[in-house]
Amino acid sequence: MLRAKTALFTPILLLVAALAARAAAADAGALRPWLDPSLAPDTRAELALKAMTRPEKLSLVFGYFASESPDSKPGARYAPPPGARIGSAGYIPGIPRLGLPPQWLTDAGLGVATQHSSPDAYRERTALPSGLATAATWNAQLARSGGAMIGAEARASGFDVLLGPGMDLMREVRGGRSFEYAGEDPWLAGTIAGAEIRGIQSQHVIAVVKHYALNDQETGRTVLSADISEAAARESDLLAFELAIEQGHPGAVMCAYNKVNGSYACENHWLLRQVLDRDWGFPGYVMSDWGAVHSTVRSALAGLDQESAYTFDQKPYFGAALRAALAAGSVPPARLDEMAYRILRSMFAAGVADHPVGRSGVGIDFAADRRVAEADEGQAIVLLKNARAILPLARSVRQLLIIGGHADRGVLSGGGSSTVFPVGGNAVPGLQPTGWPGPIVYLPSAPLGAIMGVAPQANIRYLDGGDIAAAAREAAHADRVIIFATQWAAESRDVALTLDRSQNQLIAAVAAANPRTIVVLETNGPVLMPWLGKVAAVLEAWYPGSGGGPAIAKVLFGAVDPSGRLPVTFPASLAQLPHPVLPGTGIPDGQPFSIDYREGAAVGYKWFQERGLKPLFPFGYGLSYTRFRYSELKARVLDGQLAVSFIVTNVGGQPGAAVPQVYVGPSSGSWEAPRRLGGWSKITLAAGASAPVSVRVDPRLLAMFDQAHDRWQRAAGTYLVWVGESSAKLELESKVRLPAWAHAARWRVQ
Ligand code: BGC
Repeated sequence: MLRAKTALFTPILLLVAALAARAAAADAGALRPWLDPSLAPDTRAELALKAMTRPEKLSLVFGYFASESPDSKPGARYAPPPGARIGSAGYIPGIPRLGLPPQWLTDAGLGVATQHSSPDAYRERTALPSGLATAATWNAQLARSGGAMIGAEARASGFDVLLGPGMDLMREVRGGRSFEYAGEDPWLAGTIAGAEIRGIQSQHVIAVVKHYALNDQETGRTVLSADISEAAARESDLLAFELAIEQGHPGAVMCAYNKVNGSYACENHWLLRQVLDRDWGFPGYVMSDWGAVHSTVRSALAGLDQESAYTFDQKPYFGAALRAALAAGSVPPARLDEMAYRILRSMFAAGVADHPVGRSGVGIDFAADRRVAEADEGQAIVLLKNARAILPLARSVRQLLIIGGHADRGVLSGGGSSTVFPVGGNAVPGLQPTGWPGPIVYLPSAPLGAIMGVAPQANIRYLDGGDIAAAAREAAHADRVIIFATQWAAESRDVALTLDRSQNQLIAAVAAANPRTIVVLETNGPVLMPWLGKVAAVLEAWYPGSGGGPAIAKVLFGAVDPSGRLPVTFPASLAQLPHPVLPGTGIPDGQPFSIDYREGAAVGYKWFQERGLKPLFPFGYGLSYTRFRYSELKARVLDGQLAVSFIVTNVGGQPGAAVPQVYVGPSSGSWEAPRRLGGWSKITLAAGASAPVSVRVDPRLLAMFDQAHDRWQRAAGTYLVWVGESSAKLELESKVRLPAWAHAARWRVQ
């Protein structure tokens, strides 16, 4: 009886509720027109701004750290305001009167992270492979899917602002956060980061591209000044941001800790006002990195729109001090309006006010998300060496010895604010450092288990590698040996290029005992490989992410063709680097210093080619299990742009993915380097199949920046166009005459 009654009433109740909700929405639409999603973000921001009081505007530009932490007063503790999501990066209260939700901020570009807090507050989420790994896929579609996956997890976890992607150009290969970034080339980094931004924002979450700009190393990051000519910066680090911003339209840009040409990035008028705002027309807001604000008036006037987390700054610069500066007239009210407007505009553009966030991760399909991470890693792994075609391994392999890297338990991830705590917990807890920038986290996606799954017939043994002699003894009896070597890197410190914990000795001893040794690297970025000549194969797996184990196993056994290509040059020695000694070495902590980036725009492969240096492995390099041939290169001008076309043929015996790269350079050799990456394609081909490829080259990649006239300029003349399998293995060459081209710095792709 009761059931029957409920059945009758439920539809009526639902109808009444729906009518009430509609009436409320209509009311809100009339009273709060900025909540109408059919209006343009700019219109909505204008309307909302008009309705705001000054305290409300001020509340939008001042953020709180959202985790409990020690206070500046000894013994005291800082507690975030109610409403913050404990264990996250930041919180800006909403304005309920206006229907504006809070901004709940979480790190970062590899997944939903957890900040310092008690272990029971960890959010266990899916980790993408490192940003550098995603760049190594040379596949913007994968970057977009990864962005959408972490954006959706952020939203389901109660966040509407995701503090990624990070994409400082990899100018310093020892940079401790290289794993978060997208490599050394502006076009590759900008395209990959732009796609990740689009993915994140497709989930109604604001993406924050960071750290703007030239935060290219961790040593001294809060005190160093990155000194570089404006033109060289525009052609390198800034170009990467410019491309990511115009391709991805992030809601926010995070200004960096460091100074650029003597002025802190978060109060750098040139970076924020001239380049970002005036030239690139960026309509979103600039938020500070945590502790990167040093002033009130200077920062506000230079273009900083939001102070992110004042407990990290010396003072609450955009709190009472900004209120006072407004009262005194040193910051005009119009500037506060602009700051609030930019934040509102991004909130409306991303749809955060229209799509309320979830809470506690309810509804996340972790199995599906792990598959997104696995697909990314599957195309990120770079086959660096494959002597005598030892890979792929046959499923019929009998005695397989696996050594090291905690491969029996999981795969490594990088440390610092981007650390994602994995579903199922840290696979190898307790490794030092357990405190910041640790803990060291291994994701429970063990290569060993995945390999056992792929080769169930094999007799597989695992050794941790701690006893080098024992490992070498056992290796002698194995058909194949796979050594996992790891290098942990983390925010706030840089790394050496040498594998630590006797791993080089281990690899050398095992390879001496068994030449059929395969090395799998899980590293931040490049490492030196003194044992390279002794081992049969090397795979660079980066930080492999939550689906890392199966992705590695599938590449080892050939279920997936290795199609990753290096997004960074692997040097043969430190002496080859523009700065053989890491800048800041030996300078006491906290003492300011300058880095003279005299190599200018000659970053990575450009530096190596300009200097005629032979790296260990060049940018763009990576082997496949099949082989490709390239033919019929044509280069011509179409609609004012350089259009390049050619044919790729799979001439090997199995399917595989080619990554043909187009490089361009002036025959006069007048650039910072002989050639630049002008574009690429990634194309999967069956054995024997061919496909046409066409690539348009962005005119900025064919131009120099003319600082005196603040414009891009290309000289008329003959330009060379190459198609290569890497920056150092050029297969085809053609020439094209290009007319002169000049355009104001504010030129944008239409
Ligand atoms: C990092 C940022 C991060 C922020 C919030 C800073 O230490 O540099 O990348 O988003 O902390 O956790």
